[in-house]
Amino acid sequence: MDKILLIDDEADVQYSFRRIFASPEIELTTAGSGEEGLQLIPRVHPDLVIMDVRMGGINGLETLRRLREIDTKLPVIMMTAYGTTQTAIEAMKLGAFDYLLKPFDIPKLKQLVADALKASRDMKQIVSYEPMLETEDYEQGIVGRSDPMQSVFKLIGQLAASDATALITGESGTGKELVARAIYHHSRRSEKPFLAINCAAIPENLLESELFGHERGAFTGAASQRIGKFEQCHGGTIFLDEIGDMSLPTQTKILRVLQSGTFERVGGNQSVTVDVRVIAATNKPLEQAVANREFREDLFYRLNVVRVQMPPLRERRSDIRLLVNYFLKKFSHQSGNKPKSIATDALAALESYRWPGNVRELENVIERALVVAKSDAILLADLPAEVTGSVAASAAAQPVEGGSANTIPAEMMAAAPDGIPSLARQLFKWARENSSLKVIPAVERELIVQAMQETGGNQVQAAKILGITRATLRKRLEKFKIKQALSIE
Ligand SMILES: Nc1ncnc2c1ncn2[C@@H]1O[C@H](COP(=O)(O)OP(=O)(O)OP(=O)(O)O)[C@@H](O)[C@H]1O
Ligand SMILES: [Mg+2]
Repeated sequence: MDKILLIDDEADVQYSFRRIFASPEIELTTAGSGEEGLQLIPRVHPDLVIMDVRMGGINGLETLRRLREIDTKLPVIMMTAYGTTQTAIEAMKLGAFDYLLKPFDIPKLKQLVADALKASRDMKQIVSYEPMLETEDYEQGIVGRSDPMQSVFKLIGQLAASDATALITGESGTGKELVARAIYHHSRRSEKPFLAINCAAIPENLLESELFGHERGAFTGAASQRIGKFEQCHGGTIFLDEIGDMSLPTQTKILRVLQSGTFERVGGNQSVTVDVRVIAATNKPLEQAVANREFREDLFYRLNVVRVQMPPLRERRSDIRLLVNYFLKKFSHQSGNKPKSIATDALAALESYRWPGNVRELENVIERALVVAKSDAILLADLPAEVTGSVAASAAAQPVEGGSANTIPAEMMAAAPDGIPSLARQLFKWARENSSLKVIPAVERELIVQAMQETGGNQVQAAKILGITRATLRKRLEKFKIKQALSIE
């Protein structure tokens, strides 16, 4: 449940907010003046404050100033009428999250509120990582005991203790955002704001002004000055997510902020100095982007000083069991249900799947399985088909006949999962279900056929790829009668 405190002296506005935010997920409290609002904050503990600038008693700006003395991070959205934008700018400099012009556009208001609530959660929900994961708090934790994750935890600790720029890379769903927040929460800047900006989600022409602000008349539509995220986040931490999607001119400005802490607002010539820590993340291979001249090399080196490379889930399969347990507990905790267990074969399927969507995909699979599971345990049948595997699918699609079963289904070979252990696990499962298959000779034959096909029948090359001598290859070709079958030479 998110708590919003509305501070406005007009009954109409309070009434519209009650209607707009009538939802079981939102608890709206209202205050009729700045003084009353400030008194309510320690009692209500709001996640977001929405406040009018013009009020009887102390005005919105003064209220914001006093609020910042008791809370440096609480997101505040200011509401102003046309013609009072200067106040809005002042408010942004005091660290308001954003401002809205009255009369406001409801979808815009809702979007802004959703963004501000996310920022609030990012700052409030402390992300713990392994060394401190002893608590029974299933809200936010980075789970993992594998070696690659131990290295990640070590880096988080080092980054939290320093003020260095950090670059987090890795495939989608590997936990990059979680790591960024863990660094922030354990850093000396944890009492200051944390703002996440998804560079891929903001149109290219708007991103620069979103980050650095603009002067009045800087471009068509820039009717007044605007304060950007860097200025607003002074003293805090900015998380530039999907930095690989940033345009070159914006990259240039980022480089300058990193080097000198200064920038100019779009269309302005006055330098602004800020103290902001930057944490960047991307799932794009930046080295490649540099080679393609889509990403500035100097910025890349500047960011790459401390790099956290998130390992894909398939390279740390020993963590799957821990993550499954963690998600089972987390979701049952959220829904108030008794935690379910998981059947051995279902867990085995989860442990051998290749997880292209990494931890996020695993989290979704568990959440879905909890919805469809009818018993106290999650069974193999409760998992989606892609997880239970091409294994079962190909076995069903190609019933093996006794005697002539010595070939591996093409689908299985085509599904080529990463890593030999995973491939072997699938083959083993398949062999167990098809006892007529002589798995080892079948695999050997298939590998040789592939090597011969790929090399156009070049025995020297084929033997080299397979890691055997040419003499051995010859013997196998004869044994499996491959030469004739392929009609090579
Ligand atoms: N090690 C982990 N322990 C627990 N939860 C995790 C872990 N890694 C990721 N998650 C969860 O998986 C989901 C995806 O993580 P996150 O958003 O940090 O990934 P990402 O790398 O930023 O992905 P993308 O590149 O798609 O933005 C989140 O719900 C997160 O809480
Ligand atoms: Mg992300």
